[in-house]
Parts: sequence; structure tokens; C-alpha cells
Amino acid sequence: MQLKNDLLLRAARGEKTERTPVWLMRQAGRILPEYRAVRESLSGFKELVETPERAAEVTIQPVDLLGVDAAIIFSDILVIPEAMGLPYELVEKVGPRFPEVINSRNDLNRLHLVEPEEHLGYVLDAIKITKKELDGRVPLIGFAGAPWTILCYMIEGKGTKAWAKARRLLWEDEVLARTLLEQITEATIVYLKAQVAAGADLVQVFDSWAGVLSKELYNKFAMPYMKRICDAITEVPVTVFAKGGGHFFEDLATLNCETLGLDWNIAPERAREIVGDTKTLQGNLDPSTLYGTHDQVIEHTKEMLRRFGGHRHIANLGHGVYPDIDPERVRTFIQTIKEY
Ligand code: CP3
Repeated sequence: MQLKNDLLLRAARGEKTERTPVWLMRQAGRILPEYRAVRESLSGFKELVETPERAAEVTIQPVDLLGVDAAIIFSDILVIPEAMGLPYELVEKVGPRFPEVINSRNDLNRLHLVEPEEHLGYVLDAIKITKKELDGRVPLIGFAGAPWTILCYMIEGKGTKAWAKARRLLWEDEVLARTLLEQITEATIVYLKAQVAAGADLVQVFDSWAGVLSKELYNKFAMPYMKRICDAITEVPVTVFAKGGGHFFEDLATLNCETLGLDWNIAPERAREIVGDTKTLQGNLDPSTLYGTHDQVIEHTKEMLRRFGGHRHIANLGHGVYPDIDPERVRTFIQTIKEY
């Protein structure tokens, strides 16, 4: 189907656009009272993710209520470990928890191959419903976690600051680390391909904990798998967001993806110098800027747009929007970009 607003896809492919497209990581969620209303009518986050009609509804909310140029399917990166055999829970005000984790090579026996239609049918159904209800208004973004970030959760069982247990594994049992990374990579490729077949117009790979790895370890334990994923997804543009990866940005620039996401700690000018005109850059306003005044949001958003130079840029924050940010500031951010 022909999209009415395809700014995101044209920007990703490096084509000229009338203006810079904008969307926000975590745009669907607790910043919107309308999301909280849907969420409270269900037993919790997981039920929302696993109920395709309701997941589609909250996916579309930011398109209607905020005016973003893309929808991102409402789900989580943790559905992959669950589909592989390690279920997750989402504990209110605490975060994700895995009752069982991978501690030894023996634990790999608990994992199995992922059949997207069988294990992740609820995400594919949510994508199909969303596409139908969007009716071509804006593109739909599919996503998955990067192998390194998913390994972090499968080893640690919860979010941590340093991911020391996961990093310890890289030194103590390279075979286990690589076997697990391989399995996650295979699952991620079939999952992303199934999302595309269901209707995703672009996919983003979130390497949220890239920043805890040195350049050397990232190249050893993350890059080969990122490369496999980027090379395998040829159907739609791919965005790689390796948060905290400024110290190996030159390496990320070699990936076969259309767009690289930037967090707020890498200068747009430096990223542009490294990728030249070969890639689109996405980002990178510090999300905390949205705690500022209306005028401060306008000023800093304009400054960001100026620094990216208006070509091959997708405007976004440098990470997900914080849950206690006033939706009015988000609207100001979006409006400033649309009027620039
Ligand atoms: O709007 C969107 O961006 C789409 C939805 C989306 C969610 N999670 C919904 C969600 C996306 C793209 C994700 C990805 C995700 N999940 C990442 C990668 C992006 C990033 O933030 O770095 C990571 C690391 C996770 C793991 C995860 N899920 C954590 C650490 C948490 C708890 C912390 C938190 O932000 O609440 C979640 C839960 C989660 N995923 C929520 C949402 C809306 C909050 C659940 C709720 O509504 O109570």
C-alpha cells in the first residue's frame, strides 16, 4: 500500500525530504494518559503486549495524539528470550525479571529454535492490525534487541548497571557466550523477517547496553552478530542503535544498515564525518531536555537540527522518553521539527 507520509523511509534511504521526519523511542507508553487508561484496563504490561488489538491501539496513540511521523510496534525486546524458552516477568516499578537464567552450558538445553508464527504470533498479529488501522498514514517500525543486549538479560535475569556477570562470561566461557549469541542471532533474524512479512516498513535493532563493552570486546562479541543481522535483512531499511557506542562508532559505520542511531553523548558533526553521506543519522536530543521550559525545548531542538544539517537525518531523542515527561514538551519538540 502507498504510504501518505513516507518521510521516514525516504530519509532512511538517503532521498531528499521536504522536512526532517520525527518519532521518539518509547513514544507509546506512560507519558500518555490514554496509554495508562488502556494499561489499567488489563492485568499488566505483558497482557497488553500479548493482546494484539490493544497493542495496536497503543501503538497508534502517539500518531494521533503527538503527530509523529512513524509508529513503532508496542512490544518489548524481551519477547525473544521468552520465545527461546526463558520467560520474563515485568514487575511494577521494578522492571523486567527472569525467574530462570543461563548459568552454564547445560542450561542451553532449555532453549529451543524460535518459530515466529508459533511463539511470537501475538506480535505479528499486532503488526497486521496496526497496519490495517494506520491505513498508510505513517510507516510502522518493527524492532528487536541486539544479541549482546539480549544476552545481558538472559545471563543476569534483570537490569543492572555494570552487567558484570554478562561481561565476566565473555572472559570465562567464550564458547557458552558465542553459542548463546549465535542462537539469539538466528532467532532475531527470523523474527525480524516475520515482522517485515507481517507489515513492518523498517526495523530497528536496539543495542541498549553496547556502552558497557570496550571497543575490543564490542568488535569481538557484538559486531559479528550485528553484521549477520544487517546482512540478512534486505527487505526494508535497518536502523542500528548502539547506545553508548560512541567509542566504536567507526566500527558501527561499517555495518550494512541504512541508519545509525545516536545517543546524546556523540556529536552529530563527528558522526557525520565518520559515515559521510553513506548513512542516515537518527537522534539525538538529550531526553532530559524535555524537563526544561517550552522555550528551552524549542531552542535546544533547533540547535540539534542545525547540527545535523538537514539531510539524511531522522529526528529523535538520544534514548527513550522518560515516563514523567510532560506530553506538552514532547509536542513542542515535534512541532519545532515540523516547522524548522
Ligand atoms: O514506544 C516504543 O518505543 C515501543 C515500545 C518499546 C517498549 N520497550 C515498551 C515498554 C520498545 C521499543 C522497548 C524496547 C526495550 N525494552 C529496550 C530497548 C530500548 C531501550 O530502552 O534501551 C529495553 C532495554 C527493554 C527492556 C525493558 N522493558 C525495561 C528495562 C523495562 C522496564 C523499564 C521501563 O522503562 O519501564 C521494560 C518495560 C517496558 N517496555 C515498558 C514499556 C512501555 C514499561 C512497562 C509499563 O508500561 O509499565
